[in-house]
Amino acid sequence: MQEIATGRIIIVGAGLGALYAALCLAPLPVLLISPDKLGTGASSAWAQGGVAAAMAQSDSAAAHAQDTIAAGAGTVEPRVAATVTEEARAHILALTDFGTAFDRGADGGYVLAREAAHSFARVVRVQGDQAGAEIMRALIERVRATPSIQVLEGVLACGLDSDGTTVSGVAVELARPEGSAPVMLRGAGVLLAGGGSGGLYALTTNPARIRGQVIGMAARAGALIADAEFVQFHPTAIDCGEDPAPLATEALRGAGAHLVNREGQRFMADLHPLAELAPRDIVARAIFAQTQAGLRPMLDTRTALGGAVLIDYPAVAAACARNGIDPVTQPIPVAAAAHYHMGGVATDAHGRSSLGGLWVCGEASSTGLHGANRLASNGLLEALVFARRAALDMLENCVASDATEVTLPDLPPGVTPDEHLIAQLRRTMTDHVGVLREAEGLQTALRHIAQIEAAQPDCTQLQNMTAAATLIAAAALARRESRGAHCRTDFPDTLALAQRSFMTLADAIAFR
Ligand code: SIN
Repeated sequence: MQEIATGRIIIVGAGLGALYAALCLAPLPVLLISPDKLGTGASSAWAQGGVAAAMAQSDSAAAHAQDTIAAGAGTVEPRVAATVTEEARAHILALTDFGTAFDRGADGGYVLAREAAHSFARVVRVQGDQAGAEIMRALIERVRATPSIQVLEGVLACGLDSDGTTVSGVAVELARPEGSAPVMLRGAGVLLAGGGSGGLYALTTNPARIRGQVIGMAARAGALIADAEFVQFHPTAIDCGEDPAPLATEALRGAGAHLVNREGQRFMADLHPLAELAPRDIVARAIFAQTQAGLRPMLDTRTALGGAVLIDYPAVAAACARNGIDPVTQPIPVAAAAHYHMGGVATDAHGRSSLGGLWVCGEASSTGLHGANRLASNGLLEALVFARRAALDMLENCVASDATEVTLPDLPPGVTPDEHLIAQLRRTMTDHVGVLREAEGLQTALRHIAQIEAAQPDCTQLQNMTAAATLIAAAALARRESRGAHCRTDFPDTLALAQRSFMTLADAIAFR
């Protein structure tokens, strides 16, 4: 394989973690690899709610940490929750300095939204549901203006060069319909910040390209993966047939919107004292049960928001308009959809993976913050905190020299994943590794995943996806209890001893 010495830190990904880390690394030369034009392919730009941070006088980092730990169903690392919540405020101020136009009240203070399982209104937001888009706009502008950062768009990472203990390069291909032969990029260190696994499921709120490839490629290189079974399903994806499904932000429920079914029953009120603001896993399972029972769950914003939903939540209003739903006069049909992967590449407090030379941040990582059920709007926060921590660690440990402007040569066509195989993989994950799980279904899933993998053995992109899927299904099979978002119908109880899970890909394959 052709090799290119970049003399730069190589960042795989183009979401919040990737851009923020690149800025924190400046002036160390960085090569940022993105399959799409910046701002178009990463999940971060689609984040509606915002960033959780204890900004109110009455709130505290300790209360935020406590809510994070309570939501995580016993598997949050308390030290990580304390660190992240303590550092949250500084990152909101840094984003503000970078030009993010957070909503401000008449007194100039940040407008704070309430979301499920938070004991305070503490989500810093932008025009109701525009936080991700606005934060990304500001950071992209800053990245483009930073001379030490080279952005390589239209390029897809497909593998890591690893001897099983240390990573020494990233294999990339051209992100075009006919694919390309790979090229090996060498650099001073590698940071993976390329998102989660939602698109491995047939029903997801994630952008189409986010299909576990980054976790898969790290696992194939030998990295340890943590908590892979913990996949969060968002209760209120708009059920309109779009793929990916548009989100109806949890902030709508924070503003008083109710969940009802087609019989007009407000079912959450009977299920949990916090009703619609119960932890996300509980609401997601309730929505799933309503869907399975044919009761058509819906989000009713009419009384709480009236016409304001159109002005205050432009992304939700646009998705409704595209699909002929008028939220001012009609409830919005919703379904539970794969939304966020709490599991990922196991990292320490500095974003270091188990492999030398490889750091990971954002949804691709598993830091111990989210446990079995991520608290709303802690995802962007975690990406910020660990992007900076990883960048500081890389600044200390990586020597970038002789940085060159990287240009990829002309490359012949390569192998791209068969769309039918991807569709089968996504169906398998939704049917057998979804909101409810049991042993027989998980074993079926592992068999199907292996068959899909064997059908195109020379396609590294597909192998990355099937590696991530195998890890999720195997870890779900290994966890013989129900905890947070992981619900086993054959093991409904939660064990007294709460433990995180750690697996290599070889461990996961042994479950097939
Ligand atoms: C939402 O706005 O409901 C999603 C927020 C999140 O997933 O953190």
